[in-house]
Formats: sequence, C-alpha cells, structure tokens
Amino acid sequence: MTLRINSLAAKALVAAFALCAATLASAQATQARLAVSLDEPSPRIEPTVYGHFVEHLGRGVYDGLWVGPESSIPNTRGWRNDVVQALRRVGIPVMRWPGGCFADDYDWRDGIGDPAKRPARRNIWWGGLETNRVGTHEFMDLVEQLDSEAYLSGNMGSMPPRAMAQWIEYITAGENSALTQERRRNGRDKPWKLKYFGVGNESFGCGGSMRPEYQSDLHNQYATFLKGVTRVASGDGEGDDHRVEVLMSRSARHMDAFTLHYYSLPDNWTRHGDATGFDAGAWARTLKSALGMDGRIEAIKRIMDKHDPDKRVALYVDEWGTWYDTPPGASALFQQNTLRDAVLAAVSFNIFHRHTDRVKMANIAQMVNVLQSMVLTEGDKMVLTPTYHAFDLYKPFRGATPLAIKLDAPVFRTGDVELPAVHASAARAPDGKLLLALVNLDPSHPARVATNLTGSARGRVLTAQSMDAHNTFQQPQAVAPAPYAAASSGLLDLPPKSVVVVEIVPRP
Ligand code: AHR
Repeated sequence: MTLRINSLAAKALVAAFALCAATLASAQATQARLAVSLDEPSPRIEPTVYGHFVEHLGRGVYDGLWVGPESSIPNTRGWRNDVVQALRRVGIPVMRWPGGCFADDYDWRDGIGDPAKRPARRNIWWGGLETNRVGTHEFMDLVEQLDSEAYLSGNMGSMPPRAMAQWIEYITAGENSALTQERRRNGRDKPWKLKYFGVGNESFGCGGSMRPEYQSDLHNQYATFLKGVTRVASGDGEGDDHRVEVLMSRSARHMDAFTLHYYSLPDNWTRHGDATGFDAGAWARTLKSALGMDGRIEAIKRIMDKHDPDKRVALYVDEWGTWYDTPPGASALFQQNTLRDAVLAAVSFNIFHRHTDRVKMANIAQMVNVLQSMVLTEGDKMVLTPTYHAFDLYKPFRGATPLAIKLDAPVFRTGDVELPAVHASAARAPDGKLLLALVNLDPSHPARVATNLTGSARGRVLTAQSMDAHNTFQQPQAVAPAPYAAASSGLLDLPPKSVVVVEIVPRP
C-alpha cells in the first residue's frame, strides 16, 4: 500500500505521529483516569466564550487588520482579505473594541466623518499617533465582514455620560434623530446591531484609578443613560475581592455583566519572561499562572452568588491570555506565539467550560500582532499561530452542553511548581455528539487516559517537538493540527505537551 503525502500539513502529521510513537515507546506514560457523567449537564457553552479583543495598540488594528483601501495588499474597504478570511474560517462570535486602556481616552467623534478631516491624537497608553482612520463606521464594517457581534468599550474615565449614550444612539437609532441623520450623512443609512457595551475599562487603573465605591457610583450614573445594550461593568483585574463586593452589592441592578481581566505570565510584571527560548521552569510557571484563573473565577462567583443568586448578571472574562516581554524593536506588545500558548488556551477553554453558569463571554487579548494573537502579519505576509489552531480544535464546543467530569491525574513537578499532568473537559454538542478535550501539560512525558467512554475517539491533536515551537512566515505549518484516532476504546494516548479534541462515537 502506498501512502500519498500531498500537503505540508500531512507531512507535519506524519512527523508528529512518528514523534508520538517514539516518545510513547521511550518514556513512561503518565496514567490518568477520567469519568464523564452523561446525565449531569450544565448551562451551554456560549459561543461568545470564544470571543476576541482588538485595541488600538501597536500593529493590532493598523497593519494587522487594516491596511486602507488604497493598499496594494488585497483588502475589502481597507480590511485585509487574508486576515479576514482566516478569522472567518475560525469564526469570530464577538469582538471587543477599541480598548482596553485606549477606550477611556477615546472620543468616538474623532473617528467619524471624512477620514481626511479626522484629528490625529496622541495614543497616551501605547505610544504613537492615533490617526482615527479606523473609527466606528470602519469597525462596524469589519464586524459585518466577519459575521460577528460588536462589543464596544465606552469611555467612563474621561468623557461625560452623554457622550457614551450618544455613541449608542448614533450606531443604533432608526428614528430620524439628529444623530441618525449625521450617521446617514457619513455613509450609513441602516442602524447597526450593537449588542454589548462596556461601561469603562479597568476603572481600578488605566480607566481612571477609581476607588470601588466611586466607580460604583459612576457606573450607576453612566449605565442609567445606556439603552438597548447589554451593560458590561468594568470589574476585577487585580484579584481584589473588595471591588467585586462593592460593585456587586451597589451596582448589580445597573449591569448585565461584570468583567474579569486575567493575564498569565511566567515571571512578574517587571520582567514578564520570554515568548520563545524558555525552559521547562517557565513553561510550568506560565501554565500554573493560567490554571489560577479557575480559582479567581470561583472566588468572583461566590461574591456574585451572594448578591445575584438568580445569576442574572453574567461574568465576562473580557481580556485573557499570555503577556511576555516585547522583544527590542518590535511594535507595542508584540510577542511570538508558541505551543505553550496553545496549551494554555486549551486549559483556559476547559476552565470556561466549568463555569458556564456565569461565564458567558471570554475575549482573548488580542486578535492580531498584540499579546496572545491568533494571527501575525508583516507587510503582505500572514501566519496563523498555535493559539489560532487551539481555537479551531475547540470549535465543536461552541453551543455545546458541558458534562461533569471526574479526572484523576497525577501531578508532575518542575522546580517548585506542581501541575496536574492532564486537564480536560467534556460536552454534548447540539447535534448530540459527545466531545472530549484533553490536554497533556507535561512537556516530557506522554499520558494515557483511561475513560468510562466506549467507542471510537476521533478528532485532532496539536503538538510539536519543542515547547517553544512556533509558526513563522518561512515555516507556517511548524505547529499545525493533525488527525487523531485513539488506539482502543476508552483509552486515549496523549503525546507530551499536546492538546487533543475528539468526538466519541459509540460502537453500534
Ligand atoms: O491588553 C492590553 C491592556 O491590558 C489593555 O489595554 C488593558 O485593559 C489591560 O491592562
């Protein structure tokens, strides 16, 4: 029998399997047990848990997404076609814009009208000049090109409530108000659909350095004037239970969602750690930091449950991801994206699946060329990151119903960091398919997971030879998903440092 290899991806797959087989043969596999409860469903996994965040920062918007209608890079009304097509393939359920910190220094009026007359402003947070070439009309066009939902962050830090309310009216009003007429004069007749609206961003810091009590008063004041949108309160980003307590006790009835910002880094906020060329210690510390999100969500949920026992207010993790040191000479917050980021994304998805009673949205920071990106660009070149592939692997989980699991997995130790070797989640897809996601966090040892699920397990695996394997413009498929099939019913073998997502098909 001849095996025909007709694509780079297929070659990568064969290489990955040769690697797995060799590793499985040479190293002792970690043994884990997983029991899935088929009759203990939780609220569904909202597709918006696979959401995105885009800020006017570095090359995130300009260059990465927007090249302008006159660019030689193929584009549709300024948005680059290669990136939009890649994002459409993975599916973008929601996009948060324009910040981040940028949002609380942003006047939406700067970004409407004749582009040639828009004022350039200093980007006080991330450096450089903001030309305002991308404003409301352009962003909403991108949302429509991506079939996504818009989530705007309003300025509570430095603009009055009337500015916030009028932005919403400008976007959504159908009646013949002065703002509707202005929108029409600027080229858009029909109102846009605007679902989510953030009342400030990180009010504890770049959004105004507010005491929780003061923020809560301001939130109530601003939210009073916001009509027809899901009102999202700026929440926690510092592990500050007191802020959660104050906001939930005094402002819950003026909000529909509360937020958590959670970044993972190997070291500390002075020296974050490198995106590539790291050792097993940094691998372990980064994943440990990501696993800590589970406890933070638990803690926030406890406070939310006290003040909102009916769970009317959702929790949005509206910024999450890795944050490494920016290499010298790179654009603001640019970082390479490796297999470690994909493993971390998978662990984060599993955590979101555990908390669907509250967590209804999560947005990775950030979509292109900034922090834990989906896509990297340089001139007319584009490459998909390992994180993109993790999102793609987990796509079947969107809209699925999580199932309770019991996982017995040994811990492994790196220096003084202990991590569970295996991390998992399971769900029932809307079409009835049983889905299983398994992550082997151990970079050196394979794992064998014995489950109570019988049948064939088929899906995809994401792994690579080195911890910091990453895709470049020269080698865009260094980290790419490969087909996966379990060798025998109920038993799944995971290569070291891998993500496996399968569908279990019961034997007839
Ligand atoms: O994502 C980068 C920054 O991180 C955002 O602007 C801010 O909200 C957070 O501190």
